[in-house]
Amino acid sequence: MKFIYQIENLFLELPIGNPEEKRSILKNIHLTIEAGKIYTIVGASGCGKTSLLRVMGGLTQKSSGKVLYQNKEVSSPPEGVAFVFQDYANALLPWRTVEKNISLPIEDSLSALECSARVKEAIAQVHLTGRENDYPWQLSGGMQQRLQIARALATKPNVLLMDEPFAALDAMTKASMQDELLKLRDQTNISIVFITHDIEEAIYIGDQVSIMRGPPGEIFEAIDISLSPNRDQLTTRGLPEFLQYRKLIHESIKGH
Ligand SMILES: Nc1ncnc2c1ncn2[C@@H]1O[C@H](COP(=O)(O)OP(=O)(O)OP(=O)(O)O)[C@@H](O)[C@H]1O
Ligand SMILES: [Mg+2]
Repeated sequence: MKFIYQIENLFLELPIGNPEEKRSILKNIHLTIEAGKIYTIVGASGCGKTSLLRVMGGLTQKSSGKVLYQNKEVSSPPEGVAFVFQDYANALLPWRTVEKNISLPIEDSLSALECSARVKEAIAQVHLTGRENDYPWQLSGGMQQRLQIARALATKPNVLLMDEPFAALDAMTKASMQDELLKLRDQTNISIVFITHDIEEAIYIGDQVSIMRGPPGEIFEAIDISLSPNRDQLTTRGLPEFLQYRKLIHESIKGH
């Protein structure tokens, strides 16, 4: 079996104030990521979820342990890994239109024709068709978040690291984006690590739900989700197994 990511004994400490004083952020994290699966992570605010994703994305340097992407130590953002930030407003360039924000990571490496086809496809995937020439500040918060997702999708990544990507969306858009993500996983073999505060969302899209506690952040429990791959918003969420997972995860987060 081929692991895309292998994380073993990961610890992260970050300086606070003066450089000698360190805060323990992540503790003894183990996580393996396979191709074609969605890994969701839930946990209370401040427990270390974003920090874990940043280490995986090569944006923050670990203190000790192993973080391997395709068998190589991660020390800078690896090729084939795309990041969707929690803070979408700061992730976009205000002087570039929707189209130009999406083309940013691919415009130097692809032909103009291929680039524009990718941009068009990504815009359709996040339902922003018709807003190609808007600037980010002319979009709603949820639209800006979808724009950031489109930019990641246009790179055709092997791995998507997504930090609460649907938090700013209304219930209907959120549901349709969840289904888009499942479709993408089925069509491409992409691996997705997806942070959320929404336990139902974590179960609905997840092949595995990891529960984090902290700080310092630890993966307290990882629960494999064995629901039918043909998920449907109404039917799946009403299944007795779904409700059982929901109860289990709620209890695990609360610590009993
Ligand atoms: N650069 C930094 N320097 C020092 N401490 C940091 C830094 N970044 C994060 N932290 C601390 O690490 C801990 C975990 O933060 P993190 O952003 O990973 O939490 P989170 O689980 O993503 O929370 P939320 O759900 O609110 O987004 C917090 O105590 C935070 O203050
Ligand atoms: Mg966070």
